[in-house]
Amino acid sequence: MKILDGKLIADQIKSEIAKDVQENFLDKGLEPPHIAAVLVGDDPASITYVNAKEKACHEVGFLSSVYRYPANITEQKLLEAVDFLNHDNQIHGFIVQLPLPTHIDEQKIIERIDPLKDIDGFHPVNIGKMTLNQPCFLPATPYGIITLLERYGIETTGKNCVVLGRSHIVGTPISIMLSRKSNAGNATVTICHSYSQDIPSITSGADILIVAIGKEGFVTADMVKKNAVVIDVGVHRVPSDETKSGFKLKGDVRFDEVAGKCSYITPVPGGVGPMTIVSLLLNTLKAAKLEIH
Ligand code: GUN
Repeated sequence: MKILDGKLIADQIKSEIAKDVQENFLDKGLEPPHIAAVLVGDDPASITYVNAKEKACHEVGFLSSVYRYPANITEQKLLEAVDFLNHDNQIHGFIVQLPLPTHIDEQKIIERIDPLKDIDGFHPVNIGKMTLNQPCFLPATPYGIITLLERYGIETTGKNCVVLGRSHIVGTPISIMLSRKSNAGNATVTICHSYSQDIPSITSGADILIVAIGKEGFVTADMVKKNAVVIDVGVHRVPSDETKSGFKLKGDVRFDEVAGKCSYITPVPGGVGPMTIVSLLLNTLKAAKLEIH
């Protein structure tokens, strides 16, 4: 079994991006790529994600700005904040951190973002272009998974891929990306969701199993084919007396029992998470270079 080391690959890609920023922006007297994040309310996970994104920006020489709003901001005010960033020529791309408070229509906010600045790749224009295999911003987590498979030389063509979960952010886009006529892609993809019957019988046929179901320890060894590639997208904070902080991060896969059975597996933490952040940086670089659309 080999570990798919997302932290290692993300660090390599960050060095590549930093070099690109130096050569193609700073050495030419241009402002570096500038990313903005909109953070509404004080959800601890969202704050952690936005802080991690800011830190990564600084590591590669990007500029970053965070626009913070209280949880009771009106939908209209948030739409105006999006309009402001759409028109701000200093900002190359931005994200609105999800989830948003329940009184705000998330989809309405996403659809207000200029698709040319939508570095999360959540706007229907980008989802549509992704589906048609046209240049677009790919959603960060699926993009990170594909990059990880590519960098480890894991072939997807002709493979049976099973995706657990059909969220807009991970399950649905990764299913489309793996089934497209492209490389990585060309796989036979099955998506399992809350109405799927006998999930273990489906997962045990998977050469590549992508788990984004949001349930800690859902995947057990008996659900996994021998020598499968297992990608764990789940992140759960569970109480632990082994750590100083009193908690530990765990995934959707029971790593200890599954690891011995597969050819490759992503750890949690240090697998998909760092790849997601670096994919957002890659999208921002493309936005700043006007490479999309
Ligand atoms: N919340 C959880 N994941 C994401 C993400 O990739 N982008 C945004 N904007 N919000 C998220």
